[in-house]
Amino acid sequence: MSDLAGKHIVLGLSGGVACYKAAEFCRGLVKAGATVQVVMTEAAEHFITPVTMQALSGRPVYSSQWDAREGNNMPHINLSREADAIVIAPASADFMAKLLHGRADDLLSLLCLARPIERVQLIVAPAMNREMYAHPATQRNMAQLRADGTTVLGVGAGEQACGETGDGRMLEPDELLYEVVRHFRPKVLAGRHVLITAGPTFEAIDPVRGLTNRSSGKMGFALARAAHEAGAQVTLVAGPVALPTPRGVMRVDVQSASDMQRAVQASADAADVFIAAAAVADWRPASAAEQKIKKDGSGDVPALAFVENPDILAGVAASQRAKSGALYCVGFAAESHDLLAHAQAKRARKGVPLLVGNIGPDTFGRDDNALLLVDERGAHELPRASKLALARALVAEIAQRLPRR
Ligand code: C5P
Repeated sequence: MSDLAGKHIVLGLSGGVACYKAAEFCRGLVKAGATVQVVMTEAAEHFITPVTMQALSGRPVYSSQWDAREGNNMPHINLSREADAIVIAPASADFMAKLLHGRADDLLSLLCLARPIERVQLIVAPAMNREMYAHPATQRNMAQLRADGTTVLGVGAGEQACGETGDGRMLEPDELLYEVVRHFRPKVLAGRHVLITAGPTFEAIDPVRGLTNRSSGKMGFALARAAHEAGAQVTLVAGPVALPTPRGVMRVDVQSASDMQRAVQASADAADVFIAAAAVADWRPASAAEQKIKKDGSGDVPALAFVENPDILAGVAASQRAKSGALYCVGFAAESHDLLAHAQAKRARKGVPLLVGNIGPDTFGRDDNALLLVDERGAHELPRASKLALARALVAEIAQRLPRR
C-alpha cells in the first residue's frame, strides 16, 4: 500500500552507529511511496556513506549549507519548504541539544530551525548509549523539544553497539516507518479509548485438545492499528493468534471465551468504543478434563457435552454505558450467504448501533476483505480492499457516529 504517496520527507542523519538502520528506513519510506531527500551531518558521514543514501533515496545527499547546487545557495530554505515532514534518524544526544537551543551551524540543524513550524513536523528518533540517554541533560532536552512541538519518538531497549544493555537503541526501521505513516493519518479518534476483540477463542477439552476456529485475527489487528493511527488509546483483547502486536497498542492475550469476557469487562468501563471482531466459539465443553482423555482401544468415543458461551458483545451492548451512548458498540457478522438480511437480524439481536457483515470463507486468513456496514439508516458497502485500508475506512465511519465532545 502506498501509505506515503505524494509525501516528501527530509531524512536527516546525525552521528551514531544507528545510521546503519537509516539505510533500511530510507528504503521503507521510498517503498511506501514517499520521495526522500537525505541530509547528513559530518558526523553521520563517519558511520555511513552518502553514496549508500543517494542510491537508496535516488537523490544526491546534502550535507553543507554552502552547497552550490542550489541556484539561490539556500538549501536550508529550499529543502525545508519542499518537505511534508523532517525526520531525524538517528538523532544523537548532541544533535538534540543543538535543536533545543536553536543552534544552526550546519545544514541539518539550520534547516530544522528554518522549517515552517506550523506545516512541517519535526520527528526525531533518539539513538545513543544508555548512560547518555538516561542523563538528566538528555531527558531535559527531550522534554523541552516535546514542549516546543517536536515529536520525540521512544527508544528500544536491549543490547547496544557499545556492548552495554539498556534504553537508547534507535527504533527499528519498520517502527520508524509506522510512526511516519501515523503522523499523516487524520486523528479522528484523538482522546478516545477503543476496546477491540480479535481472533478465535480456544475452548479446552482436556490439557492437550480443544475447540477453535479459523479466524486469523487479521481484521481485528488491522482495526487496532487503524484506531491507534487515528489517535486512540487502544486495548486489544486477542485470542490465540500468531500476529505481532500493532505498535502502541495494549494487548491482552486470552484463550477461552470466558477469559475474553473477563478481559473485556475489565476495560469496558473506560472505553468509548467497543469493536467485537473476535470469532468467539459459540459453545465450550461442559467441563474440561483435568487429564488427557485416553483412547482405550475399545472403539468407544468420549461423549462430549457442551454449554453455550457468554455473548460478550450482547452483554456489553446491554450495559448502561452502551445504552446511554457513552460506549459505542460495533459487532461483526461472518456469514456464508444472504449477508444483508443476516447482518440486519444480527444488529437487532445484539442490540448494537453498527453491525459489520462479511463473507466468512472470503475473509478467513486473507489479507483483503469486503465489508457491509449496517446501521439505523441502512446498509453500505466498503468494497474489497486490504484489511488495513478497510480498517481505516471503518474507523473513519465509527468516528463520524460518535457523540461530539
Ligand atoms: O452470534 P455471532 O457469533 O454470529 O455474532 C458475531 C458478533 O458477536 C461478533 O461481533 C463477535 O465478536 C460477537 N460475539 C461475542 N461473543 C460471543 C459470540 C459472538 O462477542 N459469544
